[in-house]
Amino acid sequence: MAPAPASLTASRALSPLLAPARVSSGRWSSLSVSVGARPATVTVSVAALTAQRRLVAAAAATEMAPAASGEEGSKPFIEEMRAVAMKLHTKDQAREGEKEPQAPPVAKWEPSVEGYLRFLVDSRLVFQTLEDIVDRATVPWYAEFRNTGLERSEALKKDLEWFKEQGHTIPEPSDPGTTYSSLLEELSEKDPQAFICHFYNVYFAHTAGGRMIGKKVSEKILNKKELEFYKWEGNLTQLLQNVRDKLNQVASSWSREEKDHCLEETEKSFTYSGQLLRHIFT
Ligand code: HEM
Repeated sequence: MAPAPASLTASRALSPLLAPARVSSGRWSSLSVSVGARPATVTVSVAALTAQRRLVAAAAATEMAPAASGEEGSKPFIEEMRAVAMKLHTKDQAREGEKEPQAPPVAKWEPSVEGYLRFLVDSRLVFQTLEDIVDRATVPWYAEFRNTGLERSEALKKDLEWFKEQGHTIPEPSDPGTTYSSLLEELSEKDPQAFICHFYNVYFAHTAGGRMIGKKVSEKILNKKELEFYKWEGNLTQLLQNVRDKLNQVASSWSREEKDHCLEETEKSFTYSGQLLRHIFT
């Protein structure tokens, strides 16, 4: 595993100082307690405080160095997330899949433009919600996932404009999209580990199975046109690896219970994304 980029390590180390009271258990919370425990009567200048924060941050960065690589004597957390997700596929979807099929295989889908448009509109809402949440970063470390290069809402906006130019009516978001968007908003406030599970699965699913689906649909109903939804600026493999590294770093401060809680959310993520996919084949 490559060492953590210096900027990320520094911002991780600072996060506890900026975090709200509801910090997860583990190294970061004990750090913020010691800072907060400074006697209230002591007067410190802003410069002194800044210097003190730097010292604490530097000490924390040194102390956390092994965990920052995502290794804690076991495999990186992202591998656990991927393993759980892969098992939830069916055999016809992916080699590592273990689930019984509940829907026809992608090769048998008979998509319509109307259904595909409903999928694209709901997907745009979901991606826009994820992007807004990390931009707002009400939990400080959500900010690590801003501008990853995986963002899809702008690309989808362009695609929907293209469909409109072709004379198609763009529908309003429908129940699967609005329901998923509300759930993401709620989890992002109340349950950060569950939120991160959805964040990972939505983005990574789209770059894997999602791309395969896009290609098949395009062959069948769009005369092989490649939508912006399936194009990324830069090297996608590298963009994905950067996000994997950040996920490992963020999760390195989670307790085992928080990690397990995140993994347990995977099934829900498949259910909600599955509802969006149903637009294409029903
Ligand atoms: C018809 C539906 C789907 C198909 C055909 C499909 C197919 C695939 C395939 C072929 C892979 C790559 C396997 C590999 O690396 O060897 C993959 C990876 C993955 N899929 Fe799916 N998938 C589908 C639905 C979903 C859904 C609904 C989710 C979750 C919301 C999901 C989450 C993931 C994740 C997280 C990965 C790992 C990506 C990575 O490691 O880069 N997939 N999928």
